[in-house]
Amino acid sequence: MPKILDGTAIAATIKQEVADEVKTLAAQGIRPGLAAVLVGRVPASEIYVRSKVQTCADLGIYSDRITPPETVTTEDMLDLVNALNSRDDIDGILIQLPLPVQVDTKALLDAILPEKDVDGFHPINAGRLQAGRPALAPCTPAGVIEILKRSDIPISGQNAVVVGRSDIVGKPAAMLLLHQNATVTICHSKTRDLPAVTREADILVAAIGHPGFITPQMVRPGATIIDVGINRITTREDFDRFFAGNARREATFLKRGSTLVGDVHPKAFELSGAYTPVPGGVGPLTIAMLMANTVRAAKMRRGL
Ligand code: GUN
Repeated sequence: MPKILDGTAIAATIKQEVADEVKTLAAQGIRPGLAAVLVGRVPASEIYVRSKVQTCADLGIYSDRITPPETVTTEDMLDLVNALNSRDDIDGILIQLPLPVQVDTKALLDAILPEKDVDGFHPINAGRLQAGRPALAPCTPAGVIEILKRSDIPISGQNAVVVGRSDIVGKPAAMLLLHQNATVTICHSKTRDLPAVTREADILVAAIGHPGFITPQMVRPGATIIDVGINRITTREDFDRFFAGNARREATFLKRGSTLVGDVHPKAFELSGAYTPVPGGVGPLTIAMLMANTVRAAKMRRGL
């Protein structure tokens, strides 16, 4: 039986550590602060931002939720970012993505002060990360490393295969694994004979954004599988494709009309030595690492 890597429990431990640090800083008169910018009314983004703001409150971090309208311009957003850059009560700036099409996302992310870039999306932080310098690292990939380390899964010398090359997950995950001395392969849509490559993985990271993309024949028995995907499925056909015969999932699906599946087919998990479930795997780490980054930014900005 594979071991299930409980992201919710690991995230709870990290959040407790962050809360303890917040208390230590409070004794020195410092309160870390996060600005969470939510543009328009994207339901998934609203849920994520609510959860980020609530977690700040739980841990004693100050937060300011800012909600420009769907019609906001790039210029207005740049003014907002500049104002947040100047505010002394704000240590971290998070702009929830995606943004409406009329907003120049890259220009905005580039405008955030690198020392307040708690998402780790600024090119300066991407460059620092790849150069092995101290940097604010993107939260989801940082969470992947925390799951592996805190579950005592060896990384050094292991073959790590990352499927997906996004700037937000795939590329930084590969870099962090490399810094832990894994032998890293990055795969993408043009990779030749993908199953042959993924079958070499001791650690397989799936960050494609396609439900159930990793099938059993792509997995080496005993491998550790980290599933970064979060895909909502709503049709009976999809349900049966992934969860036929799973009574617990079926109850959720019938009650809510949808359920979540990662980028890994559930049958592929059965071959693994250990895996992160969806939900309850990597997802909870993203917010925990955002909180950790906010406290880190607060300390770095004060030279602590
Ligand atoms: N949208 C989806 N994931 C993320 C994330 O990690 N950070 C931000 N800012 N937006 C997102």
